[in-house]
Amino acid sequence: MNEINRPVVRPRRLRTTPAMRELVAETTLRPGQLVLPLFVGEGLSEPRAISSMPGVVQHSRDTLRKAVVEAAEAGVRGVMLFGIPTTKDAVGTGATDPDGILNVAIRDVVEEVGDAVVVMADLCLDEFTDHGHCGVLTPDGRVDNDATLAAYAEMALSQAAAGVDMVGPSGMMDGQVAVVRAALDAAGHTDTGILAYGAKYASAFFGPFREAVDSSLQGDRRTYQQDPRNGREGVREALLDVEQGADIVMVKPALAYLDVLRHVADALQDSGVPVAAYNVSGEYAMVEAAAANGWIDREPAILETLTAIRGAGADVILTYWAVEAARLVR
Ligand code: PBG
Repeated sequence: MNEINRPVVRPRRLRTTPAMRELVAETTLRPGQLVLPLFVGEGLSEPRAISSMPGVVQHSRDTLRKAVVEAAEAGVRGVMLFGIPTTKDAVGTGATDPDGILNVAIRDVVEEVGDAVVVMADLCLDEFTDHGHCGVLTPDGRVDNDATLAAYAEMALSQAAAGVDMVGPSGMMDGQVAVVRAALDAAGHTDTGILAYGAKYASAFFGPFREAVDSSLQGDRRTYQQDPRNGREGVREALLDVEQGADIVMVKPALAYLDVLRHVADALQDSGVPVAAYNVSGEYAMVEAAAANGWIDREPAILETLTAIRGAGADVILTYWAVEAARLVR
């Protein structure tokens, strides 16, 4: 200060006009950095609403194709597909069946958009098992890590055969990235990438997603998804995924774990491996519900959410607002 109440340093100078603010903006948000998660329901002839996620639907095969074209036209460069089968069993047979809904949807989407969009698919058993867990169970009901890995390897091969660009192993089994990488390579799918769910927390913010996929889960996923109290462990998981051959490593959920995202981004800086973050269903639902009540200004809240996730270190963001946000920033 040069005299009472006369500061010399005035950060506000850089905020005076929109042009000035644009000039010094640190964080960018491009449509091409966004990935749209999409749900497709087996046997649906028209889309089915998801009550806890207003604006998001379970697609029919037809409307899924249209949704991906719409995303591509908006400049979104990735989609993450989730399939909802009509029948489930203990081992999730529908996940590896070439005629299973997810594999069929991959083929549809690849045929529709080709290389215009990176086609990704969830690589996990929970949508396909009648107990709703992400893996197969031991006779006494625990999730069997290594038996699940064998199922994941098979699932990766069926998705690759369907033409997927990247698989997204989301089950948090130890060693899943290495096993999937080895299986893909052995079958000649060396160009099929892996977007690994590196740090994934056992989160209440997945609530609306469980409705979206008609989840059968009783209980919780705390023996495989991470404890929300453990941030350093998220970095450990991310580094393990890089070691095992992940092409992109993801942190999920995004908003409650922006600190983990920052630590992971810093830890992977030298590896050059891009970092993604998943702006999950519960985070979407909170903003939508508040906006529907007139408690929050919806569009600025969406853009601020995505900008904050970028600022915390995400190169890529999975968000149910991908198409709308792409249009807003274009
Ligand atoms: C597992 C999976 C889940 C989500 C993505 N992949 C659910 C879970 O782990 O229980 C959640 C996504 C969201 O909440 O938006 N297949």
